[in-house]
Amino acid sequence: MRPELEVTIEKLVHGGEGLARLPEGQVVFVPDVIPGERVRIQIVQNLGDYAIARLLEVLEPAAERRTPLCPLFGKCGGCQFQHLPYEEQLREKLRIFKETLWRTGKIEEGLVQGIVPSPQEYHYRNRLQFHVHQETGTLGFLKRRSHDLVPVRYCYLTTSEVNEVLSKLPEIPAWKRLHPYIKRVNLGLSPTEKKVVMLLWTKVPPRREDLYEIKSEISALKAIFYWVRGPEPQGPFPEDAPYRGRRVFSVPKEVAGLPQDQQFFASAGVFVQANWEINLALISYVKEKAMVQPGERVLDVHCGIGNFLLPLSVNCNRGLGVDTDHRAIADGQENSMIWGLTGVSLRVSSAIEALIDLFKETETYPIVVLDPPRGGCKEILRFLPEVANEKIIYVSCDPPTLARDLRILQEKGFVIEEIKAFDMFPQTFHLESVSILRRTL
Ligand SMILES: C[S@@+](CC[C@H](N)C(=O)[O-])C[C@H]1O[C@@H](n2cnc3c(N)ncnc32)[C@H](O)[C@@H]1O
Repeated sequence: MRPELEVTIEKLVHGGEGLARLPEGQVVFVPDVIPGERVRIQIVQNLGDYAIARLLEVLEPAAERRTPLCPLFGKCGGCQFQHLPYEEQLREKLRIFKETLWRTGKIEEGLVQGIVPSPQEYHYRNRLQFHVHQETGTLGFLKRRSHDLVPVRYCYLTTSEVNEVLSKLPEIPAWKRLHPYIKRVNLGLSPTEKKVVMLLWTKVPPRREDLYEIKSEISALKAIFYWVRGPEPQGPFPEDAPYRGRRVFSVPKEVAGLPQDQQFFASAGVFVQANWEINLALISYVKEKAMVQPGERVLDVHCGIGNFLLPLSVNCNRGLGVDTDHRAIADGQENSMIWGLTGVSLRVSSAIEALIDLFKETETYPIVVLDPPRGGCKEILRFLPEVANEKIIYVSCDPPTLARDLRILQEKGFVIEEIKAFDMFPQTFHLESVSILRRTL
């Protein structure tokens, strides 16, 4: 039997857990706590330098502690902060962000210009990926620090349409026939249509009739795709789903910078920012800081469907976007045509290959956008200064790798002008940010 202990929480850290010290000074991480709280814990793993604990009881709760909305909070690995009022979440996330930047990158906290709150505290997520419970067919998330599944019939982070699919799907006879073969399920809202696109990763192709039965039982579903292997999923089902089953996202004309509202189209499973409202704030900020002038050129080395590249290119109609996902590039190419940006080109390439090619061709760009996955983009920083001759706009979803990369960029002659955080993911520890760098050497 592992011992039970009492500790006082010193602070929250990246990952959302509370940090406390055991009597001998060893650091212990505790979930679902608030700084200052006295709690009873049980150590579940001792890793030498630090230990991981389970929260047994909050002995002296903080005044701000609130009851989490979701009954799965504490079990499901999706949320870490539902017990904190939203204002407090923002304060803590900003403080942790500044601390991470300083610890890893020696970046002064004064450079961080605050945090932009999400317009919605709940029901903001337009896409979610689920595992499938093998016995019941219920979709679910993984438990914290575990590979066990927590069945989820309702998620407070996502929209009513996605929740309709979550609640109805397990009861449908066709799904009961299909689900033993399904490995993962991606549900993506098409916000403009308020309909959901479902993508199934499956071991064997499903029967078409089963897909039609599922579609007919869930009014929120727009289309179903399935992916067995190969470069593309099969679908849409039904075959005549609007816009070939792609998701549609509206961009107001003020954000797009064009006389009319614009749209982005995205194929099933292709990356789209998960909180569209805060994404619009991100795009506006990136545009304001980039200040693209006619005649300039924009390079976006993780361009996806053109989320930043297209709004940035409206002033110059000259831009290059690259991404390793060939389906995102195909969407981006169509999007750039719809936006009337005939001078923008999008290619399938890794960021490093694109930079090496541009370096060989002695091509330089005054504005370069980086928006890498969580691992950051250390591998491209050697060639980036050869191509980025003025501003770098680094959009990041992972503060530790951002801090590492910013430090390297500073050593290579870029100064950080400012950094701004955006709360793309309320109730979780995840944080989006934009850093603006300018070349000095
Ligand atoms: C965080 S998403 C951002 C996409 C886009 N900027 C947006 O806002 O929708 C990261 C993108 O980087 C792409 N990616 C991953 N590794 C890459 C690499 N080595 N080179 C270029 N793109 C890469 C992914 O396919 C994905 O589209």
